[in-house]
Parts: sequence; C-alpha cells; structure tokens
Amino acid sequence: DKGAYPYYMLKEIDEQAVVARNISAHYFDEDGNLQGIPCAVTDTIQEADRLYIVAAGTSYHAGLVGKRYFEQWAKIPTEVHIASEFAYDQPMLSEKPFFIFLSQSGETADSREVLDNVKKQGYPALTLANVMNSTLTREADFALPVLAGPEIAVASTKAYTAQVLVQAILAASLGNPGFDLKAELAKVAVEIQAITDEKESFKKIAEDALKDQHSAFYIGRGLDAAVALEAALKLKEISYIQTEGFAAGELKHGTISLIEEGTPVFALLTQSKTAGLLRGEVAQVAARGANTIVFASEDLAKEGDAFVLPQVNELLMPLLAVIPAQLVAYYATLARGLDVDRPRNLAKSVTVQ
Ligand code: M6R
Repeated sequence: DKGAYPYYMLKEIDEQAVVARNISAHYFDEDGNLQGIPCAVTDTIQEADRLYIVAAGTSYHAGLVGKRYFEQWAKIPTEVHIASEFAYDQPMLSEKPFFIFLSQSGETADSREVLDNVKKQGYPALTLANVMNSTLTREADFALPVLAGPEIAVASTKAYTAQVLVQAILAASLGNPGFDLKAELAKVAVEIQAITDEKESFKKIAEDALKDQHSAFYIGRGLDAAVALEAALKLKEISYIQTEGFAAGELKHGTISLIEEGTPVFALLTQSKTAGLLRGEVAQVAARGANTIVFASEDLAKEGDAFVLPQVNELLMPLLAVIPAQLVAYYATLARGLDVDRPRNLAKSVTVQ
C-alpha cells in the first residue's frame, strides 16, 4: 500500500533511512559486533583468491560500489560482471573463485543462468537478495537478506542502497574498515533522512534542468563514476530522457562533442583524490554551454554547487550521492506527466533471458 504517497517510488525513496537502520539492527548486536553472517560464509570466502560479483541493472551498479569494500577492507581482488554477458562469455577465472549474486528479486533470469553455470563447475556462491526464498537464494550455497522490504516501483531505489549497505557489512566481516562502521552507518541513516527531507530543492532542480530536455549526463570519478551509472539509469528508465553516466575522464575522449547550449550535466563530487580533476571537467563542459549541476560532499563543496551532501566516510558517500539522483529522476518524470512507477516496456523482474 502506498498510503498517502502518489507513487511507490517516492515512498521507497523515503524508506531508505529506515531500511539503513533495519539493516544495522539485523547485522550488528548492541555492542557493535557483527552478527547474522554464518561462519561458513566468511570461512568459504576467506579461502577464495577472487570474488566475482554477478548482477544486472541497478544491482550490477550496487556491485560496482561493493567491489571497493571487498578490495579495500577485505583485501580480496573483486570483479563485477553483467550477468547476461558472463552467461555466454565467461571470463577466465582465478584458481579459487567465489561468486556473489546480487539481486532485488532473486529471480533475474540472466543471473540464474550464471548461477547454474558456476554450480556445474563446482564453485561456491552466495546470493544477497531482497526477496528471500527466491530462486537465486535457494539455489546458491549461501544466502543473506538485503532487508529493503517490498519494492514495487519498477525503478529500484531502496534495494540499491540496501545492497550497498549489506556488501559493506559483509566486507567488514572479512576485514577491518579502519573505522567504526556501525557508528558511521547510523550517521548515514540520519543523513539519508536529511536529504530526503529536501524534496523541494530536487523538484526545482529537476524541473529547471530537465523538463524539456531530450538528453542529459551524469559524470563522476572513482566511486562517483559508479554512482553516475546508477543515476543515469534511474533518470532514463522513467523519464525517457536519454542519459549517459560515465567516468568524467572519458569526456575528452569523445563524449564532450555532445555538449550543446543548455545540455544538463550532473556532476557527483564526493571523492577527494579526484575532486580537482572533476572540477576541471565541470568547467570544460560549462565553457561549451552545458548547464552544470554539481552535487558535492560537504568537504569538497564550493559556492555555486546545486546541493551539498552531508559528509560521511568517503567510501560510504555513494549511499548519500544516489539519493538526489533518485529524487531528480522522480520529479523530472512527474514534470513530464509520465507514470513514475510503471515505465513503458519494462517489468519489475526480468525472468527471461
Ligand atoms: O531483481 P534484480 O535486482 O536482479 O533486477 C535487476 C534489474 O532488472 C533491475 O535492477 C533493473 O535494472 C531496475 N529496473 C533498475 O531500476
């Protein structure tokens, strides 16, 4: 039931702060110790020499963020693969691979095909899914819940943040993040709430920048490039504005030729190592007429940025940076008079290959 909300998508965007708290309550005990991840899972992963995350769409984008946690905290090399590609073009695997399937529905046919293939090859697999007792959770060796609660809108929102959170927690069970993850996630929940409370700002940004546009861009570097992919998918999927999300350094290798007077270019700026370079790229597209809209973290924000994201640990910034993009997609779609929850040609769960 969507209650007082006009669309499920808005309700699900708003639920993300609560989802973050629920996930922490499930995976941490009161003393801040991790719980709910069986030793069999962590032991089997520790024996692996490489992780392979396999997923589709938004879940694939969540995997691109999760990769950083597994590599930086758990120190396990991690590859992220699109299920429909992996299924028919399997890359060369390491000696001891471990597979992680990410899925909201647990029913995505492309991911199921890969799971079938890797099981036949005898490799261990864990599914992180929102719908437990789904095909992907039943057929993998291990399954952990993503705990986003029912997601009805075709455009995935809270399942993305939940998948990122659960990957962070799983990675922290394998290696030390070097900070108090439980405390930082409590802060993340507070700040997600603070951003979703700013709906009017994003409504205005969406209406001003996107109402009559036929194309748009999301750029970022590092983790922000990963979030840019998800941000672009969200916008194009429901507003039908052709949107590309990509690594900002690639602009000069081709895409910058698409910039015209007024082309909206959203920049996600939360990573200190590359903030200077990204500022340069924003200036370059602005000089060619782009309408630049910068969402920057508190530590990196400058005068003129469209929105300042509250500061949390940089590796966790994707959990905040994605929220404005979800709201912008929602309000742009609304402004164009479209059905936010049921975009044309799409199904919530893609059960055919
Ligand atoms: O249920 P899954 O997470 O396996 O689904 C994967 C994609 O079909 C899904 O994320 C899709 O891309 C969403 N509609 C994006 O908003």
